[in-house]
Amino acid sequence: MSGAMEAEFDTVATWTAEVATALGPEYALPAACRGSGSPPAIDWLCDAVDMSSGDVLVDIGAGIGGPAAYAARQRGAAPVLVEPEMGACRAAEVLFGLPVVQASGSAVPLADGSADAVWSLGVLCTMADQLGLLRELSRVVRPGGGIGLLVYTATTDVPKDRQPEGNSFPSTETLDTLVRGANLQKVDECPAVDLGAGSADWQERTDRVAAELESRYRDHPAWQLAEQQSKKMGDLIGSCTVVGTLLHLRHRT
Ligand SMILES: C[S@@+](CC[C@H](N)C(=O)[O-])C[C@H]1O[C@@H](n2cnc3c(N)ncnc32)[C@H](O)[C@@H]1O
Repeated sequence: MSGAMEAEFDTVATWTAEVATALGPEYALPAACRGSGSPPAIDWLCDAVDMSSGDVLVDIGAGIGGPAAYAARQRGAAPVLVEPEMGACRAAEVLFGLPVVQASGSAVPLADGSADAVWSLGVLCTMADQLGLLRELSRVVRPGGGIGLLVYTATTDVPKDRQPEGNSFPSTETLDTLVRGANLQKVDECPAVDLGAGSADWQERTDRVAAELESRYRDHPAWQLAEQQSKKMGDLIGSCTVVGTLLHLRHRT
């Protein structure tokens, strides 16, 4: 993983858990969902995969575990997190007490068909082995189980200097080919932008966490690197060079 990605997904993940703990329990979910998943997006995915109480949800590239913890709270899901960065794994354990496996999304140490539902939010573009991730999602979910993705695709060529380090955004055509290559098919999709960012209250808590992180760590090189990454991502999304889409997939019939 590149230095910038390590700063973003490891060091800042650790700091985020510290800040959320200091601010209070009502900040844990908004802090841990800053990686990508807003409440309306997670609700959409839960509905798509028909999440029910007690369902085992495997979240691959789970970050600090916010989306999975939200699904546990709202739908009674039983999450298992898979995440390669130690800082993020520890942060998820500290904030939510969820079971975490430290591993890559292209080699998940879980049995075939062990999940009722599996998802991966904002992860595919951070991985070199994108087909490997989709194959693991397909392998880990039980036959008939739902597969969710939040994926960022490029609408045009992304100049290298505008690309967040370590990211590679497939075109929608490439993504379709990857989905077919993993023996999956699309059931439904929704542009992330159509679903919004959550309530004003949620937004306020997210902003408070961001402000606290900045006030504590703005002089630290890891914070600055992570900020550059997130600014580049924001610019790409703002200019529609990259778009976020929620996908519901299932095994190809
Ligand atoms: C943008 S964050 C999203 C985190 C989380 N899914 C969320 O929505 O809040 C991307 C995550 O992908 C993880 N990641 C990067 N490379 C990975 C890999 N090879 N396998 C699994 N996860 C990976 C990062 O460590 C990071 O936690």
